[in-house]
Amino acid sequence: MKKKIFITRNIPAVGVKMLKAQKDFDVHIYRRDEKIPRKTLLQKIKGCHGILSILTEKMDTQAMDAAGPNLKIIANYAVGFDNIDLKAAKERGIAVGNAPCDEVSEAVAEFTFALLLARSRRIVESDKYTRLGKYEEWHPLLMLGRDVYAKTLGIVGLGRIGQALCQRAAKGFGMKILYTDMRQNKEFEKEYKAKKVPLATLLKKSDYVSLHVPLLPSTRHLIGVKQLKMMKKTAYLINTARGPVVHEKALLKALYKNEIAGAALDVYECEPTIDCDLTDRYELRKLSNVIITPHIASATIEARDAMARVAAENIIGVLKNRKAPALVKIK
Ligand code: GLV
Ligand code: GLV
Repeated sequence: MKKKIFITRNIPAVGVKMLKAQKDFDVHIYRRDEKIPRKTLLQKIKGCHGILSILTEKMDTQAMDAAGPNLKIIANYAVGFDNIDLKAAKERGIAVGNAPCDEVSEAVAEFTFALLLARSRRIVESDKYTRLGKYEEWHPLLMLGRDVYAKTLGIVGLGRIGQALCQRAAKGFGMKILYTDMRQNKEFEKEYKAKKVPLATLLKKSDYVSLHVPLLPSTRHLIGVKQLKMMKKTAYLINTARGPVVHEKALLKALYKNEIAGAALDVYECEPTIDCDLTDRYELRKLSNVIITPHIASATIEARDAMARVAAENIIGVLKNRKAPALVKIK
């Protein structure tokens, strides 16, 4: 009997081809350009041995039970895996894969740095201003921003993406690096003069704070009222990790009250909704000191192809008892 694989949304062809090339796999894919309706998902995954999921699909007990006892691997087409109930997977003997790889780390670090530069030099605001025909003459004080060069960057989470960001910031822009992490990275400390500090110190001393932690119970609302108050009035917060790592309402208030200088966000607490509480008088979308982008930090052809390959390799590895490149260690 062939092993049934279901791909919950159209992903780059390279991953689909790799799975289809397996003679003993029967590969199905939801090809419509929309998020798969939950009911359809639960029907389609019935009897599956492998599911290739995207980060907006909740892979919870309901989904695992709908798939049934054949299911051996859920391979997430993402670096994050907070959409998957790891405990439930472990109880059922289902492996969980994610898709970290160099291409993704580089793409996310590039995008994060692009946000940092764009916010600092007011590029998005300036573009809007120019389009609106407001540029009438050169002005000594028009759109003054701040130098990035030699400033202090606080990297919250020195994993693969945090490290790729650190390299750019330290080597390309002469930035001083502070970081928090569970582990001390002596090599990075030496190479980039990075310094491991407590979160409070990082927040107090950094001109830019960039978040690179996974979403876990321990990182939910890691940045809230108290932490925002620790930041410099001239500092910027950048989030390309996961929305709920920041208490979005607290951030909004801090921005409205100019407690920090600005923010650049690629992810949101109530994603894809941009403001959790639409009745609130504070709105991210109304703030000119904020850049908001639609969760695209890894959206390069190179990174997304690589993610598709890793996800496919995870499925092939687990179902054929070979080495899988990126299985999540479940405690
Ligand atoms: C994107 O957010 C990812 O986790 O890959
Ligand atoms: C700016 O355009 C300058 O010449 O300084």
